[in-house]
Amino acid sequence: MKIDIISVVPELLESFFAHSILKRAKEKSLLEVNIFNLRDFTNYKHGQVDDYQFGGGAGLVMMAEPLVNAIETLQKNTVYDEVIFLTPDGENFYQQTANQLSLKNNLLLICGHYKGIDQRVRDHFITREISIGDYVLSGGELGAAIIVDAVGRLIPGVLNDETSALMDSFQDNLLAPPVYTRPEDFRGWKVPDILLSGNHANIEIWRHEEALKRTKERRPDLLKDDEE
Ligand code: ADE
Repeated sequence: MKIDIISVVPELLESFFAHSILKRAKEKSLLEVNIFNLRDFTNYKHGQVDDYQFGGGAGLVMMAEPLVNAIETLQKNTVYDEVIFLTPDGENFYQQTANQLSLKNNLLLICGHYKGIDQRVRDHFITREISIGDYVLSGGELGAAIIVDAVGRLIPGVLNDETSALMDSFQDNLLAPPVYTRPEDFRGWKVPDILLSGNHANIEIWRHEEALKRTKERRPDLLKDDEE
């Protein structure tokens, strides 16, 4: 899978990807992530990529030309399954969104800044708009990093234990159950006996019950009617 990212602060993303779990994904050639500096695609002086908005109002808007220049240049080499714009007014990003995107071959992520990007780019080039939550960030880079991380770890072979991504919170609309490791007794706080029993069928039942309990307590909104 290949994910290309267009940003005005590529350094921010480079340091993130150099240290995350995706480093291994890249080393194993399971995932290629390329970060492009939008300023390399502008014909305006001093690397300008933004300007005042028509109609007045505070805040600069990213101009269409550098963005379209970047997108079209990259499209010469790659057919993208989705051209995604990170924006607080996009659809919410869920585990399901990550699952869907992990099945694609090529993604292009566009990080906005300032007041956003010229609407004409959204109208004519963007195929999907995604928000990582109901809050406004200063740019789309953190959103892009979150998407790459959430999607990248679903690619088979990226995690050591391939089944572990399937057991994550949210994969079945349930939060994950509690987990324990050695020692069995820490300051008198004991690991539940069931986990030491070796009875895998019962352990799975226990885990499901605990996941359900935790979801009911913390995120009842996730439960479907039949589980309530
Ligand atoms: N850019 C600014 N805020 C954002 C958000 N909440 N999600 C995605 N991109 C953003």
